[in-house]
Amino acid sequence: MHDFHYQGGHLCCEGVPLERIAEEVGTPCYVYSRSALEKQFRRFGAAFAAKPHLTCFAVKANSNLSILRFLSRLGSGFDVVSGGELYRVLKAGADPGKVVFSGVGKSPQEILEAMEAGILLFNAESPQELDLLESLARGKRRVARVSLRVNPDVDPKTHPYTATGLRQHKFGIPAEEAPALARKLRSSRWLRLVCVGCHIGSQITELGPFVDAVSKIKKLWLQVRDEGSPLRFLDVGGGLGITYGNEHPPELEEYASAVLGEIGDLDCTLLLEPGRVIVGNAGVLLTRVLYTKSNREKLFSVVDAAMNDLIRPSLYNSFHQIWPESKGSRPLRVMDVVGPVCESGDFFARDRRLPQFRPGELVALLSAGAYGFVFASNYNSRPRAAEVLVHRDRYRVIRRRETYGDLIRPE
Ligand code: LLP
Repeated sequence: MHDFHYQGGHLCCEGVPLERIAEEVGTPCYVYSRSALEKQFRRFGAAFAAKPHLTCFAVKANSNLSILRFLSRLGSGFDVVSGGELYRVLKAGADPGKVVFSGVGKSPQEILEAMEAGILLFNAESPQELDLLESLARGKRRVARVSLRVNPDVDPKTHPYTATGLRQHKFGIPAEEAPALARKLRSSRWLRLVCVGCHIGSQITELGPFVDAVSKIKKLWLQVRDEGSPLRFLDVGGGLGITYGNEHPPELEEYASAVLGEIGDLDCTLLLEPGRVIVGNAGVLLTRVLYTKSNREKLFSVVDAAMNDLIRPSLYNSFHQIWPESKGSRPLRVMDVVGPVCESGDFFARDRRLPQFRPGELVALLSAGAYGFVFASNYNSRPRAAEVLVHRDRYRVIRRRETYGDLIRPE
């Protein structure tokens, strides 16, 4: 489900050869396909068409302004988790009435900014946060809409760092505490409880955990609504996985029909917070091989991208396919693909069978559209990469490569 393919032996994004982008923009460089993004966003919406819903793209997955602007034009709402993300979506022209604010540690300043903007709701994650929300709303003499983000204690069966819906995680309010909090909120003049929701984790490749979580949230939703809270929304979070290697996550349509089946005829508008499934396979990280070297044990291909550009392999040992720009047949060799950063954890592949790369050639790390550039740092004083958006046979630089000047500007 992406728009990267070989044409005449050369890897292209839609109608643009990646070689051309590398020559004109340099490497490393993130390249996104607008058509892949659009197709996936529309497909997601269509899968949920049977029920009133609002897709709130999880900005943390990819927060480039041009991407946000494009999604906003397609009708997307946004899930933000910081004042910075809120700033970005507003700059991108998003409708604040379609923005939800999640996260366990919203600061008073961030909350005030979001109240000022008039967002749809706050996904509250603790009793203390609710107290703060109430006192800030009172100070502003303005009613704020809130959602109880519940921890449903469901195992999403994903990487331990991307599981969030179990009891031992910092996220959410224990389900058993939710009814009492809802009761308290009913007597609040400044907070209106309009939603109950959850988010159980990311890169989830089975339907079971989603179904379990939705079923728990639905029960709670009905109880809280029947006790008198003016609920309008049910938020099922994000988390649907994509194919990086040989995972077989449910298709969007299967995911939607499982969620919709569980929700049944509940009289609510669904809030959805997908991130990865919208952008993950719409982007690659394009990099150039600098050197190949070997010792008695191993063969290494050293590329010009590093863990500061794409940290997922170092952080989660995650798998990204690596495709040469130029297809041609050549021997496969077992190798490590590594970056220039001075850490042994700076790798993109370990002991992987890949075509024997030549110094100077281009390779693409696939499925890098989500949690790629957003995670980039300046470690080793490496300027962050450029980002490019392709549309048919044209492309646009949507973030220029950083300069050495950018590195020291705030110092
Ligand atoms: N909503 C909330 C409240 C979240 O915390 C997240 C992701 C999402 C939605 C979107 O989840 P998605 O649909 O993208 O799975 N850095 C990790 C993933 C961390 C996800 C954090 N929360 C990675 O690269 O795999």
